[in-house]
Amino acid sequence: IKTQVAIIGAGPSGLLLGQLLAKQGISNIILERVTGKYVLGRIRAGILEQGFADLVREAGVGEKMDREGVVHDGFEIAIDDKCTHIDLKELTGGSVVVCYGQVNITEDLMKAREEAGLTTYYEASEVTPLHVKSASPAITFKHNGEEYHLDCDYIAGCDGFHGVSRQTIPEEKRTEHERIYPFGWLGLMSDTPPVSDELIYCKNKHGFALASMRSATRSRYYLQVPLTDKVEDWSDDDFWDELKKRLPAKAAKNLITGSSIEKSIAPLRSFICEPMQYGRLFLVGDAAHIVPPTGAKGLNLAASDVATLYKILTKVYKEDDKACIEQYSEIALRRVWHGERFSWWMSNMLHNFGKVENQDLDGNTFERFMESELSYYLSSENGRKVIAEQYVGLPYEEVK
Ligand code: FAD
Ligand code: DHB
Repeated sequence: IKTQVAIIGAGPSGLLLGQLLAKQGISNIILERVTGKYVLGRIRAGILEQGFADLVREAGVGEKMDREGVVHDGFEIAIDDKCTHIDLKELTGGSVVVCYGQVNITEDLMKAREEAGLTTYYEASEVTPLHVKSASPAITFKHNGEEYHLDCDYIAGCDGFHGVSRQTIPEEKRTEHERIYPFGWLGLMSDTPPVSDELIYCKNKHGFALASMRSATRSRYYLQVPLTDKVEDWSDDDFWDELKKRLPAKAAKNLITGSSIEKSIAPLRSFICEPMQYGRLFLVGDAAHIVPPTGAKGLNLAASDVATLYKILTKVYKEDDKACIEQYSEIALRRVWHGERFSWWMSNMLHNFGKVENQDLDGNTFERFMESELSYYLSSENGRKVIAEQYVGLPYEEVK
């Protein structure tokens, strides 16, 4: 079989890229390791930057998002009971974010792909990129017991942190930067109304918590938990009791509890692989970088990679400008590093680290510096602007 762009992974990166390329008449085939149902079972992000929302619209898949997604003009940061409003719209001169789940975006993209009759091989195993440094790369894989050989011009590695694409770049040709945080996030989803119209990032002596949502009737909450905790250690009642302790009083009194419809623990990691391309193989989204979730940047950085690669491949096929592919990694990484820095900074300021080793200073001094930094930024309009400008997302860079 043959296509112009072979895409590995049917997460949001792969599906969005596939849809955008198809709109430009560029053929593509997606190879996904698991079933579509399994992909949709992974509950992850919920906040979309304006740039992401615009890209989804450009792909022609924005209708449901525009109907059901909720625009958020701001959010709150609560330190103990002191709440500071970050008025995104006011502080950025009009930018906002959209609250619409990753699961919904993925589902909308899957439907659009099916309706357009585009090819996806779900449950493809042993996906192996070949000859990526040559002008004619290929991928071999197995599907329903049969072996396939897919010839293509380019390969987009949209296969997440544990995929094969990054490993295809020889170790001596890539540099990996990594930081593991000494805690995880325990997430709970419930069909209960959220405590507030806006998200609240909270910190007090019990640790970090985030009150988020998917709709007026569905809440998503997170708690900072020790890395040693297992999800089985946390009953729903334990979760609600702990959340109540961490929310500011005005939100805690609104808390409506109910049974969880999902509960899971995610570790926190900062990770970047440089460069993000090798020959005709491009790494996109989590395949190249991971951020800690504080600041909601993971999915949004994946989207800006997609935007860059989409623009480059459009130039390749529409303007016969093959040289422009060399810019991908450089352009993508500039924005990725900003997002990584913001997520690292927000994570540092909003979590309790206690006394841990991988800090430059003893734990107590580090914690005090972070408290001081946070109160400085929150009490100054310029500080709040710095937070708002990055939360709504820095502009996408043009491709020359
Ligand atoms: P993925 O969504 O990981 O998709 C990659 C796809 O490739 C998967 O479907 C996978 O099955 C497939 N694949 C993997 N290996 C192969 C292979 N060898 N062959 C074929 N296919 C393969 N971000 C936020 O902003 N907020 C959050 O709250 C948040 N929570 C998260 C919680 C968890 C547990 C995780 C892991 C991530 C979270 N993120 C969050 C990050 C966000 O979900 C990701 O940034 C986003 O999913 C990236 O999309 P992607 O398409 O690049 O990768
Ligand atoms: C959500 C997750 C985040 O990491 C974040 O910063 C905001 C919202 C969420 O899942 O709703």
